[in-house]
Amino acid sequence: MKFFLDTANLAQIERIVRLGLVDGVTTNPSIIAKEGRPFKELIQEICKIVKGPVSAEVVGLTVDEMLKEAYEIASWAENVVIKLPMTENGLEATHRLSQEGIKTNVTLIFTAVQGLMAAKAGATYISPFVGRLDDIGANGMDLIRNLKSMLHNYNFSTEIIVASVRSIQHVEQAAIAGADIATIPGALLPSLWKHPLTDKGIEQFLIDWVNVPA
Ligand code: E4P
Repeated sequence: MKFFLDTANLAQIERIVRLGLVDGVTTNPSIIAKEGRPFKELIQEICKIVKGPVSAEVVGLTVDEMLKEAYEIASWAENVVIKLPMTENGLEATHRLSQEGIKTNVTLIFTAVQGLMAAKAGATYISPFVGRLDDIGANGMDLIRNLKSMLHNYNFSTEIIVASVRSIQHVEQAAIAGADIATIPGALLPSLWKHPLTDKGIEQFLIDWVNVPA
């Protein structure tokens, strides 16, 4: 499973890139707004640090607005991916962009049929939101399993990005379900390599080491 970072924070991205764990980055308008910097400047800096796909989202709601923004964003860097919302207009824009060879990520997916439609429209990636589904009492991981089966049944090349990831369990379950990618918040990722017994083990080894004769 590929690891994307779900952040636009350069310090978080650089930290995890040093470990060789970053295959791409996803952003959304809320994530960009948190950094207090111009959109284009930020995306271009991220695209220099991360060689893999970097998703940048349009905010227009009509097809014309989406396409205008998409062409502008696509000109910022070679590895940028256009993120579009799962709406009728989003699907039309996705279809147009896919026919022109521009990579897309259809976001805000909450049902398997939404994912199926985005894949049929030509999306390179789809982003089902597991955390937000869990928040309303549904089971986000069921959606990932269903999408995985659906896309596999019909040999779609569209990749599933497990989004709205909130916990280590989400990451584990995404990998067990065979998701292509999990996009992980920059603040959550360090908790993936930590365990209290690892820390306790190191502490005990260092205590015992003083008894080793020189
Ligand atoms: C990424 O593509 C999504 O925009 C993001 O994972 C949403 O996460 P949230 O539900 O925690 O805001």
